[in-house]
Amino acid sequence: MCGIVGYIGPRVAQEFLVEGLRRLEYRGYDSAGTATLNGDQSLNITKSVGRIASLAQEIASAPSNSGIGIGHTRWATHGAATISNAHPHVGGSQRLAIAHNGVIENFAELRSKLKSDGFEFLSETDTEVVAHLIAQCLDRRRESNSDQSAVQMAVDSIKESISQLRGTFGLAIIFSHIPDSIFAARLGSPLVIGVGDDEHFLASDAQPLVGYTDRIVYLADNQVAVLSADSLQVSHRDSGVVAHDVKHLDVESNQVDLEGFDHYMLKEIFEQPESLRNTMRGRLSEDMATAVFGGLNLTPQDLLKVKRIVFTACGTSWHSAMVGEYLIEEIAQIPVEVEYASELRYRNPPMDESTLIFAITQSGETADTLAALREMKRKGHSTMAICNVVGSSIAQDADGGIYLHAGPEIGVASTKAYTSQCMALVLLALYLGRLRHLSYNRGRKMIEAIRNVPDLVAKALQTSDAVLEIAKKYKDCENFLYLGRHYNFPTALEGALKLKEISYIHAEGYPAAEMKHGPIALVDENTPSVFVMPNGFIYEKVMSNLEEIKARRGPVIAIAAEGDTRVAEVADDVIYIPQTEEYLQPIVTAIPLQLLSYHIAVLRGCDVDKPRNLAKSVTVE
Ligand code: G6P
Repeated sequence: MCGIVGYIGPRVAQEFLVEGLRRLEYRGYDSAGTATLNGDQSLNITKSVGRIASLAQEIASAPSNSGIGIGHTRWATHGAATISNAHPHVGGSQRLAIAHNGVIENFAELRSKLKSDGFEFLSETDTEVVAHLIAQCLDRRRESNSDQSAVQMAVDSIKESISQLRGTFGLAIIFSHIPDSIFAARLGSPLVIGVGDDEHFLASDAQPLVGYTDRIVYLADNQVAVLSADSLQVSHRDSGVVAHDVKHLDVESNQVDLEGFDHYMLKEIFEQPESLRNTMRGRLSEDMATAVFGGLNLTPQDLLKVKRIVFTACGTSWHSAMVGEYLIEEIAQIPVEVEYASELRYRNPPMDESTLIFAITQSGETADTLAALREMKRKGHSTMAICNVVGSSIAQDADGGIYLHAGPEIGVASTKAYTSQCMALVLLALYLGRLRHLSYNRGRKMIEAIRNVPDLVAKALQTSDAVLEIAKKYKDCENFLYLGRHYNFPTALEGALKLKEISYIHAEGYPAAEMKHGPIALVDENTPSVFVMPNGFIYEKVMSNLEEIKARRGPVIAIAAEGDTRVAEVADDVIYIPQTEEYLQPIVTAIPLQLLSYHIAVLRGCDVDKPRNLAKSVTVE
């Protein structure tokens, strides 16, 4: 959701900006633009609606060799996806160009004040307010304070302006009269700075920097940065210069290539044996028959005092949180609640000091999840993050947590991050269980089964061709039901979400037995039901639910364990997956469901990696 890039140095800025914006496409956007400085110190702004490819065409028709520039991909919030609403926006009669991620909550009152001060607005965006506000502050300072340097005056104007903003922002700004500096500021919306040799890069996440530099600075909230080719200065909004840590960016450049796959989503689906191994790496101890975590920052004594766990998350991560609920309650015997972050942040549930909070998030930037975590932290609870993106806002704000190490996930629909979340939760359940009543013997057995999961997932991936054939049969259906019970109920929800996200088919996930109380009314010859029903204690019950659907002429696709001949007699189509322990089934059963939605979406001609209206990382409320 919205992306920012910036460059200053000896390269042609536009080349980095376009490449950087391409790498941010996965976040979701509907328009894009760049601003560079011309030799005569005027702003050169190019914008387009739609894909980066059309922006690249616009730029190619009037290229600039400027070595300074900023770029943006916009996911519409205030105003439609139009050229005039696309960023960068210009403030104060071409004085500055600004790209903005986030939402300014008090934009309406600022806008009317700026209008009455004579500023003319060309867009409906909240961002243009920030552009004019900075221009206004700068004009006032120029009038009253002529002996300050241009850079210092710009920094002070930015600080004065952002103190008036309510909401969230990551800002990249260039000034027409300052050809050797880019300015950046953030509050609640991430920005990273890449440090090169005589060049600096700016971006809203690390992806655009990969292959350009492996030295990275994470800007913190309320910090303002000034980037020139050979220097970087960071200061706090309310004080002076602050030190900045240059960290090592640990991403292989080939992790963002398609490597022969047609889509990032398919590549990421097939990466799962490896991403799961990475989530498990170094975290299983046969000797102690438990899992080991380096970053929880809680002692076993602290954890023994935990009487209740609350998982909070959005979207797919909320589904893994539900898997976590089944896991922790059964294996560690700790009561668990799962809360949508968007609800938790405004609820006031009674929670005593023995409640531990876990925010689950791929990106670590989801606005609602971040807000819920902060609210729980404010109340004094220990907050943990289960997160994929290292150094993300949630990872930084939490008191401790578990990194997934699943690698960058580019496809908007989450796949490998989901299974890694489920794996991290299995390990957490083992760890918490072994602190309580889980025996050494049971711990060893669990480890044995867990170690086998990547191979089972590799086997489940071999169903891809068979799933494609099933996809061809059902691709034109407009409604799907996904049904499962116990550990496979969250899987049914996730399967339905995957299908609707990328193929725009209406799909509902339900606990298989609950479908009698409403969804069964939808069943007819054109509404397939996907039953997630590997072997387990609940198999017979699910089979009865399946029969109920068949009795109403509903087509059934079953996800079943290898060797299950019985299901083949009643279901129209069966996808066989390897058998495993029930608590590990959500990881294995997710695979054919991911493949089914992928193949259906491709057959329907949908843009799988960038589905309409969706964003990879939802940084607005
Ligand atoms: C968006 C994405 C989903 C994701 C959700 C939560 O809606 O499209 O794929 O599950 O945000 O994101 P998070 O990064 O917090 O897991």
